Amino acid sequence: MSSINYSEKIPNNVNLGEDRTLQRALEGWQPNFINWWDDVGPDGSTNYDVYLRTAVSVDPQGWAQFGHVKMRDYRWGIFLNPGDANREIHFGDHKGEKAWQDVPGEHRANLRRIIVTQGDTEPASVEQQRHLGLTAPSMYDMRNLFQINVEEGRHLWAMVYLLHKHFGRDGREEAEALLQRQSGDQDNPRILGAFNEKTPDWLAFFMFTYFTDRDGKFQLSALAESAFDPLARTTKFMLTEEAHHMFVGESGVSRVLARTAQVMNELKTDDPKKIREAGCIDLGTIQRYLNFHYSVTIDLFGADQSSNAATFYSSGLKGRYEEGKREDDHVLKGQTYKVLEVNNGQLVEKEVPMLNALNEVLRDDFIKDSVAGVNRWNKVLEKAGIPTRLVVPHKAFNRQIGALAGIKMSPDGKVVSESEWNARKAEWLPTPEDFAFVASLMGRVVEPGKFANWIAPPVMGINRQPVDFEYIRFG
Ligand SMILES: [Fe+2]
Ligand SMILES: [Fe+2]
Repeated sequence: MSSINYSEKIPNNVNLGEDRTLQRALEGWQPNFINWWDDVGPDGSTNYDVYLRTAVSVDPQGWAQFGHVKMRDYRWGIFLNPGDANREIHFGDHKGEKAWQDVPGEHRANLRRIIVTQGDTEPASVEQQRHLGLTAPSMYDMRNLFQINVEEGRHLWAMVYLLHKHFGRDGREEAEALLQRQSGDQDNPRILGAFNEKTPDWLAFFMFTYFTDRDGKFQLSALAESAFDPLARTTKFMLTEEAHHMFVGESGVSRVLARTAQVMNELKTDDPKKIREAGCIDLGTIQRYLNFHYSVTIDLFGADQSSNAATFYSSGLKGRYEEGKREDDHVLKGQTYKVLEVNNGQLVEKEVPMLNALNEVLRDDFIKDSVAGVNRWNKVLEKAGIPTRLVVPHKAFNRQIGALAGIKMSPDGKVVSESEWNARKAEWLPTPEDFAFVASLMGRVVEPGKFANWIAPPVMGINRQPVDFEYIRFG
């Protein structure tokens, strides 16, 4: 069943009406969610009518319907991709057995932890981005921000549904806790580091949606392989929404680069000072933002060697990215993988059991995917005749998690001394001055079709609307 029932209080395609207890429990959670949205969702946006897409079906065609709605009236709901009654587990020790429709007792704690950790990131990013509407560089960009925010809200719904339906009282408690932790909170922070960082400005937002939402893509892809079928089906649908978030990041950075390159050509300069005086973001600052968001995001994949990663895979809870397309035995016992460590001040490769290195496998898949988009950014510079290129830093740069945590490493992969790190850090990571400069550019531009000076307009509008369409009506 793929069409969505919007006649119920909670839109869904899971026949929620047939399970009164579950329906009541979720209807009890719903007002708490709305309170959370009102408290820490997009700042000052309550009366805006926003041109949002809403899922009408989970089919690839006719996914969405567009129209102006108030965000708190967005139809958040529960949408699973269609199931296949004969689906088999296709990796790990249970390979060839039937996929699970319920949670096996022995995997309950691990599955709950996986779902809670994923669920926690969704409201966290809304909290991180809540002030950005106040400084949007255009109405078009503001609308994209809000679209992402409502969809992250829906992703929270997706995980809360699984907790309520499959984890009884613990699940209900975890669902409440998801609304209580808060990004950056001293006493009750979000679970993962990158989700407690600030997203202070729109360059950070574009980097976040490019890199950190892409972490989401890889985690969700790994969960979409899960032997626990409801998790696989719900994450598959979430992936279709995630694609838009990464588009916003990729095209956003492209537009910043296009505008910077234009000013560099007009002024015939690559002097950062002159570019800044012209009200644009110099390429050095963009590179430092990239270094920061990339390094913080690759930490999200966890320790390079992890017995939990091995357990999650072997027990069928979490697969690899595109598990089905890989040509190996999908059990991985006796296979090895190379990870990095530092030995006598030098980076060395070390061969370890692949099952323990699955976080690193997923991180490396992420890195390949990220680099492809960075190359597309460089095409913007190339086309404009600017010789500078953006690069992703070395995998060991600025890491806080795993064997590389705390190692002092230059972006090009040389181990450096503490004093060299301190002397050159300002070349490699955004400085307080960088943040202050970027912040000084952030002013709200909301007239349809107008854009802030530091960013080029997009090539196309949303849903074939013109770029100067009234994407938001301010009430
Ligand atoms: Fe999400
Ligand atoms: Fe996302």
